[in-house]
Order: sequence, then structure tokens, then C-alpha cells
Amino acid sequence: MSRWAYVNGRYVPHATARTHVEDRGMQFSDGVYEVIAVVGGELVDATLHYERLDRSLSALEITAPMRRAPLEAVLREVARRNRVTEGIVYLQVNRGVAPRNHAFPRDARPSMVVTARRGQPASSPALVEGVRVITIPDIRWRRRDIKSVSLLANVLAKQAAAQDGAFEAWQVDEDGMVTEGSQSNAWMVETDGAVVTRPPSHDILTGITRTRLIDLARRDGITVIERAFTPREAARAREAFLTSTSSFVVPVVQIDDAVVANGRPGAVTERLRALYLDFVAPRGKRN
Ligand code: PDD
Repeated sequence: MSRWAYVNGRYVPHATARTHVEDRGMQFSDGVYEVIAVVGGELVDATLHYERLDRSLSALEITAPMRRAPLEAVLREVARRNRVTEGIVYLQVNRGVAPRNHAFPRDARPSMVVTARRGQPASSPALVEGVRVITIPDIRWRRRDIKSVSLLANVLAKQAAAQDGAFEAWQVDEDGMVTEGSQSNAWMVETDGAVVTRPPSHDILTGITRTRLIDLARRDGITVIERAFTPREAARAREAFLTSTSSFVVPVVQIDDAVVANGRPGAVTERLRALYLDFVAPRGKRN
């Protein structure tokens, strides 16, 4: 099957899609990105992703390359050309091509790249049964709320998890509190069933899945508390889980060497997962 990408105004075969050697995305990671889930051919929570994209762009003073309607048209077209009805769309916007110089170039035009990939890991048995996470020090910069393509620390974190046979690495700040995973937000469930996740701040990326799940949980009568927690607290909690665009809601059944509860996905996590799956289900197929 032929794959397609969008690169600066053109739809091009994925295999030959290229950017310039002096693209600031490559030289400085001077850009931002979004990953949007596609379910039943629809972009999940696209508006929330556009809003976060705008926040990231304005934090870095990068001009949006296009307005929302044409942007959405490009995202949909890339999904369509790649026959992605279940999967993800990736969007990167960076400061553009300019002679290498740290300070912002005067008149570079932002670069924009879009790709799409099939596959919805959320339903894979390994994730449904629950995963193990490791904990590692959070060595990232202090503006983790910006969805920057500077992901080196996240790459190292995920690699550390992979080498240890774990699914994800929960990063821990200097106060001993969990910030988030390398590409997901971290949660635990208290004894009384209240759900806990770290509040939005510069310390974490405010996940779109996180935002949506808080809303779904509260509507369902589940208490959500936004506060930081330690790995030890999570390991002793009733349940733990993580959320992201690429995996939705995933039970965490082991943190380092500590098994969480009975080592099986808990009822609250299962409920939240079901609520989220129902939310993303294509219109008409919802329960
Ligand atoms: N990762 N925290 C970090 C550091 C992330 O990279 C992500 C997303 C999240 C969850 O955010 P959301 O619910 O909006 O996906 C939290 C994406 C999926 C990625 O880089 O692949």
C-alpha cells in the first residue's frame, strides 16, 4: 500500500518525503507537534488538539502555518490517502528553514509536516491486561507543557523502559513526585475510588486524553483529584493507570518491582477505559 505525507504544501509519497538540511526542526528541535487519534475515520478531540497546538506555537512565537479549517482539511486528507480509519495522525510545525543561527531567523516561513499511521494499540491484549512501568529521574527542561519536538529525554526514558521490559517510564521530579510518562500521563486510584493525577502546570504536558477523561469521569460521578503523588503511593494504591492518544487508558499493574494491588486491572480503570472507548466510538455506534 502506498503511503503519503504532507510536506510544506504538497502531498508526497512517504518514501521520498523530505525536508531541508537547515530545517530548524532538525537542527534545533525548534518546533512543536501533535498526535491525534483517528477512530472510525474521525479525528478524536481535534479542537482540543488545535487549542494545545496554538498554545505551544505561541509559547515559542512560531506563526501558525494555516488556520484551523485548512489544517483540518490537510489532516483528514493525509488520513484518507493513507487509508487510516483507525490510527493516528502526526503533525509537526517548526520555525522553518534558515541558515543555522540560534536566534530566530527574521523571515523564515514555518515548516509543516503531516503523516498518518494505521493501528490502534488500545485494543492490544498486552495493554488491556495491564503493563509494568519503571521509574526514573525526570531530567527534562522546565516547560514540559509545550508539546515540543525536543524529545531526547523522553526518548531516553522510553528506551530505559524498553530495556527493562517495561511499557513506560514514569519520570520523577526532584521532590520525589511522579511528573508523567515519556509519552503518557500518570494516574492512580485511591482506596475510596477517587482518581488522582498531577495538575496542569509547566511540569507536565496536559494530555488531551487526560483532559477528556477527567470530564468523562466527573460526569460519571467519579471523584477526580488533581495533585502530585509519589511512586510509592501509586504502588500501594488501589489501582494505577496511564493515558495517551496512542494507547487511550492503560492499566498499570506493576511499578518497578512492586505489584499494584492484585496485579490485575482494577474496576475503576476498567470503567474509565470503557467510558473513553465509548466516547471515541464513531457516532451511531455508541452505546
Ligand atoms: N504523547 N505526556 C507526554 C510527555 C506525552 O508525550 C504525551 C503524548 C502525553 C499524553 O498526551 P495526549 O493525551 O494528548 O496524547 C503526556 C504522544 C502521543 C506521542 O508523543 O506519541
